[in-house]
Amino acid sequence: MEAALWTEKYRPKSLDDIMDQEEIVSRLKDLVKRGTMPHCLFAGPPGTGKTTAGLNASDERGIDVVRTTVKEFARMASLSSVPFKILVLDEADNMTGDAQSALRRTMENYTNTCRFILCCNYSGRIIEPIQSRCALFRFTPLPEEKVVEYLHRIAKNENVKTTEGGLKTIVEVAEGDLRKAVNILQAASSMSKGISEETVYQVVGRARPTDVHEMLNHALKGDFLKARDELRNLLVKYGLSGSDIVRQIHSEVFRLAIPEKTRISLIEAIGDTDFRLVQGGDEEVQLSALLAHLAAQSSVHRSVREEHVTALDR
Ligand SMILES: Nc1ncnc2c1ncn2[C@@H]1O[C@H](COP(=O)(O)OP(=O)(O)OP(=O)(O)O)[C@@H](O)[C@H]1O
Ligand SMILES: [Mg+2]
Repeated sequence: MEAALWTEKYRPKSLDDIMDQEEIVSRLKDLVKRGTMPHCLFAGPPGTGKTTAGLNASDERGIDVVRTTVKEFARMASLSSVPFKILVLDEADNMTGDAQSALRRTMENYTNTCRFILCCNYSGRIIEPIQSRCALFRFTPLPEEKVVEYLHRIAKNENVKTTEGGLKTIVEVAEGDLRKAVNILQAASSMSKGISEETVYQVVGRARPTDVHEMLNHALKGDFLKARDELRNLLVKYGLSGSDIVRQIHSEVFRLAIPEKTRISLIEAIGDTDFRLVQGGDEEVQLSALLAHLAAQSSVHRSVREEHVTALDR
């Protein structure tokens, strides 16, 4: 079996191979061509190519690293024909405030020999003085068609059979995060020969939204026992935890065609269930209780409706 992680195996080796992010790539190419470069701040959501566009730097982010290692590196004269070295600090938004402050001095003192590329998910977590020393490059989540294109390429190369539904599901779950997409593809490929929608949901530990939807609909129609069967199915078949299911119910609720009042009461109940599960409540008991609440709601609505109808009849 192939041991290599596909995200590393297929990590672009040059700026030209980076998907999307066109403006960023062209700005960077321009800087490379001119041989001049400001300090840079790469910001954006996970798996969009920041580290790839820069380089892999150290995992250590404590203040000592900045005071010693980074400073030593920055102080050394540049060796190659390019007049300065480039130092990539990955996940810079996880650096403590102190470390960032120390970095700010280092950036200023060694401008002659060193340029920094800071990568982060949230530029707001980088202290202002550093932000103002850097040119900002904003990475965006990859559009669906690019993710599909990338997955197709890898699947072809690795001889993985995919179905349209399977790929579509990966794209949906990945939400523009290419690393996540590739990792799901790899995990799913080791699980089954052809990658279907179901394989993907199993890999990511989620139920198919239609299954959750159906469970809620049974409950809303007042068929509590059927809803509970579906719940057991989810707990066993997908091996989901109670919290996983609660989270999925939460996102499904917004897609249900129900009166606003019911939705509000449901959201409240979901909040309670979530809290009880965190506190250690039994998963099946708590989730059954949630479904029971739903079923009870439905009968309230029905009796209100029935009363209304009888009143009209009179
Ligand atoms: N724009 C892209 N073009 C091609 N491959 C990409 C791109 N973005 C991400 N990838 C793929 O996803 C993997 C992760 O990308 P990368 O390490 O650059 O993410 P990142 O933006 O640094 O994310 P994080 O914020 O989580 O550190 C890479 O190995 C690469 O295979
Ligand atoms: Mg990164």
